[in-house]
Amino acid sequence: MSQHLIAPSMLAADFTRLGEEVGLVNQSVADWFHLDVMDGVFVPNISFGMPVIKSIARVAKKPLDVHLMIVQPERYFETFRDLGVSYLSIHYEAVTHLHRAVHQIKELGMKAGVVLNPHTPVSVLEEIITEADFVLLMSVNPGFGGQQFIRATYDKIRRLKKLIQEKGSPALIEIDGGVDLNNAGKLFQAGADILVAGNTVFSAADPVATIASLKNAG
Ligand code: DX5
Ligand code: ZN
Repeated sequence: MSQHLIAPSMLAADFTRLGEEVGLVNQSVADWFHLDVMDGVFVPNISFGMPVIKSIARVAKKPLDVHLMIVQPERYFETFRDLGVSYLSIHYEAVTHLHRAVHQIKELGMKAGVVLNPHTPVSVLEEIITEADFVLLMSVNPGFGGQQFIRATYDKIRRLKKLIQEKGSPALIEIDGGVDLNNAGKLFQAGADILVAGNTVFSAADPVATIASLKNAG
């Protein structure tokens, strides 16, 4: 049974009205704030960093879910913990010593997520799945919001769910990229627990209602 959590991605928010956008998420049925940190090296885009996260943390009434798209993410684990981050995810493709990094995140008191790019097979998680608190499957190539959803993600979720069950892992499944009102239900049915949504939420006429529709999909 999947959990149907929604994590609006603040990358798609209007930064001139960031406080109001955070307020919308606070008053909605959303579960987490998804915050995309990009360094222009691991991905071809730069987003935002500590000062913005610190400001969001001050007014956010829901847990912060930080998705690191940066090289050598270990350098900043402690800083994110100090900012009040609850969920911290790192890319399999960005870390050499993934086992150590996952444990460092957990030892700091945060939940640890492992992220896979669209081309990275679920099978690479075999030895780490029992250690991870969640797995984030990218359903677009990371770097930008507003991209088209990659349909192969449905089967990938099913393969990941099977691995999680076989290994008796408690890991939740998070999906990120191109999530909308058409695919949300199918993603939950395939086994997703958490859906990230950027443009679908913040480009909507009524973001609060859209978050509710995403949560009740499927
Ligand atoms: C992409 C980011 C996503 C992005 C999702 O690299 O990881 O979190 O903000 O945006 P949408 O939902 O617009 O595809
Ligand atoms: Zn993300």
